[in-house]
Amino acid sequence: MPKKMNIPFGTITITEQSRTLINKILDSNRISSGKYVREFEKKFAAVVGTSEAIALSSGTDADVLACAVLYDYGANRGDEIIVPALSFVATGNAVLQAGFTPVFVDVERNTLNIDPSLIERAITPKTRAIMPVHLMGKPAEMDTINEIAKRHKLVVIEDAAEAHGAVYKNRNIGTIGDMAAYSLYIAHIITTGEGGIVTTNNSEYAEILRSLRSHGRACKCESCVLNTASAHCDKRFKYGDNADIRFVFERIGYSAKMNELEAAIGIGALGIYNDILNKRRDNLYYLMGQFSRFSPYLATIEKESYEEIGPHALPIIIQQGVKFTRNQLVNYMEKNGIDTRSLFSSMPTQCPGFGFLGYRLGEFPNAEYLGENGIHIGIHQDLGRIECDYILNVIDKFIKENR
Ligand SMILES: Cc1ncc(COP(=O)(O)O)c(C=O)c1O
Repeated sequence: MPKKMNIPFGTITITEQSRTLINKILDSNRISSGKYVREFEKKFAAVVGTSEAIALSSGTDADVLACAVLYDYGANRGDEIIVPALSFVATGNAVLQAGFTPVFVDVERNTLNIDPSLIERAITPKTRAIMPVHLMGKPAEMDTINEIAKRHKLVVIEDAAEAHGAVYKNRNIGTIGDMAAYSLYIAHIITTGEGGIVTTNNSEYAEILRSLRSHGRACKCESCVLNTASAHCDKRFKYGDNADIRFVFERIGYSAKMNELEAAIGIGALGIYNDILNKRRDNLYYLMGQFSRFSPYLATIEKESYEEIGPHALPIIIQQGVKFTRNQLVNYMEKNGIDTRSLFSSMPTQCPGFGFLGYRLGEFPNAEYLGENGIHIGIHQDLGRIECDYILNVIDKFIKENR
């Protein structure tokens, strides 16, 4: 066994460009949302391939605000949004925070994503949207989801928190649904430290999102909402002489803006977007390619020919019938310096906070299995072949000692 290494789950790359911008921003005395946030939005929209991107304070807010857009189109509080049972808890929390009821659908054990064959039976007259999650960057089955959504006149909100750079049938994830919500949290592929962003090709949605992130105010054009317009902005008094558009609140809003320092970190990361993506994808695909050696004890996801996986992390699923527990594997990996995370939980049945919704353990067998038997580990840009081989060696040794 080679010398112990330290393999943290996530990393952050702060580029020279970011450092220069940060100093410039500090010298300007203007750190609240402004022109650098706008620049980051434009650059993010360009890499995803949408006409609009709206930067926010977290990925959870990106989910929440995308859901809240639905109120402008006749949704009522308490209406339903369909989500997979297995995700990071933020997905379910966001639906509730936006005032909707999450309706959970089980996932597929091999893809970790919402099972498209179970979606239709979860639709009721109150359903307004489907929110698939591209868990671990693996694209959800978007063709089927879009087809169901179209037939039932539902909006599709992609939770792409973990799926930067993912591709599905020649289309970038983030461009396939009506809106997509990304996390820019530190452990994610492109990070601003804390942050989130919604992408869309719908300019009306974009305006509503700009209003929602700033308390629901009527002032929502690109410049005004960033407080960079002059005091003589023509639109400012369009509600009448005595009504300043900045203090007319058209909808119930949030306070969810990104600041200039975060945007500067993001602009630097987007400057090396392909390097980050390629490095992470090399690591992920190398590890996935080697994983069959752990059969029948452990499995991971597989890549279809029509997709590229957003290289967020490597999921590891303990298979039925093994003689070891997840805790034993986790302890062994952690003792050997490999950071691990559980593969989340079945939100409705394994997260106590969702108990009030009345779901019962056993209703989501695949999500529950993965919630009990899954972990994920880092594959980030500061790791390379040596670290990947070390990870494989540690797992190999564990299996030899515990099979
Ligand atoms: C699938 C998923 N959705 C939403 C979020 C929320 O993102 P954030 O932590 O930036 O609020 C995360 C983040 O960790 C996530 O993994």
